Amino acid sequence: ENLSQKRVLLRLDLNVPLKNGFITDETRIDKIVPILNFLIEKKSKIIIISHVGRPKGKIDKKLSLKPIAERLEYILKKSPDSESLYGSGQNIRLIKYDLKKITKENLFINKNEKIVMLENIRFYEEEEKNDNDFAKKLSTLGDIYVNDAFSCSHRSHASIEKITNYLPSFSGFQFNEELSALKKITSEIKKPITCIIGGSKISTKINIIKNLIPRLNNIIFVGGMANNILQFKGYSIGKSIKEENCETIINEIFKDAEKHNCCLIYPEDVAVGKNKEDLPKIKKINKIEDDDLILDIGPETIHVIKETIENSKTVLWNGPAGYFENPNYRRGSFEIAKKIMEKSKDNAFYSVAGGGDTIAVLNLTKTFKYFNFSSTAGGAFLEYLEGKELPGIKALKWNVRIK
Ligand code: 3PG
Repeated sequence: ENLSQKRVLLRLDLNVPLKNGFITDETRIDKIVPILNFLIEKKSKIIIISHVGRPKGKIDKKLSLKPIAERLEYILKKSPDSESLYGSGQNIRLIKYDLKKITKENLFINKNEKIVMLENIRFYEEEEKNDNDFAKKLSTLGDIYVNDAFSCSHRSHASIEKITNYLPSFSGFQFNEELSALKKITSEIKKPITCIIGGSKISTKINIIKNLIPRLNNIIFVGGMANNILQFKGYSIGKSIKEENCETIINEIFKDAEKHNCCLIYPEDVAVGKNKEDLPKIKKINKIEDDDLILDIGPETIHVIKETIENSKTVLWNGPAGYFENPNYRRGSFEIAKKIMEKSKDNAFYSVAGGGDTIAVLNLTKTFKYFNFSSTAGGAFLEYLEGKELPGIKALKWNVRIK
């Protein structure tokens, strides 16, 4: 593909953790610098598409891509490749026009402009509906489409799936790297396999677990994920986050786990606070009060998890064990990361971490390099493990890799 002067619609996953408008972990940004430098070198005009958070089809100023566009611009400017290629680096203009009315002419206002970024694509309800007209309209802005957002490939959304019907479509470098690594891992995986599932996106993950059971020896529930399990088991979880209407699926999870001999592990003790900024108190799970918030796992649970990791040959980890954004509730996630680091000395042991927040924990604990592989993908990582054909991968099947 001759990319010179071509307008490339580049789907990225810039869904980075934000706190008060500040980016708390930049891994997902760092990973897409190579595709940007490559396209700039080829003299393409780049139109970045991304989402951040879940604004549910409505404009939400707190979920603007503005701080992310600014940060990416800064990173590109200081990237060593950028220096030699373009001297002063690249500006990135955030496009706030209504995407349903926008035309090509609104994008690059002068010859020197090389990168623009469309405002959060999930401000439009058509995105998550995989709307045909919306995808078609988006496609009129570019000449080709590149997906370098592997971590979004489990979403049948307009900028991931439908758009590929309207433009020659390619996978990006990061996408290819993650896919090859996951292919390799799943074909060579060694038992006993333990999967640690945490984080706050309960609705995304709870349905996946059932299909993972036959493939796994142990599933450890931590973080928000564990709350629904505890409630199902009859414990009070106070004001802790949870998903509604999960009883049927959890019931099936327990039945299937028994059938397939998969051991389900959930917290025995937890760290609670009255609010997220409160100091932690360790409590047994039968002692949770109505105004308590479960914000981390407790020491006895950490001990059980460490033993389980010790006896595993493969550990897959998605989702932190607690509200790690507050250092008081980091201990569970830190101890898991540290145990995996220690265990990594054993050559027969294989560890994989996936997801934006999980990677943030590895960066905070400086344990990143001890994992055999870390994927920027969280939900997509779990769905891939399930053995599903992900819509974003399928959509690119008939297309080729970019080179
Ligand atoms: C992720 O963080 O896993 C991706 O950005 C997808 O986000 P979503 O779970 O809100 O679809």
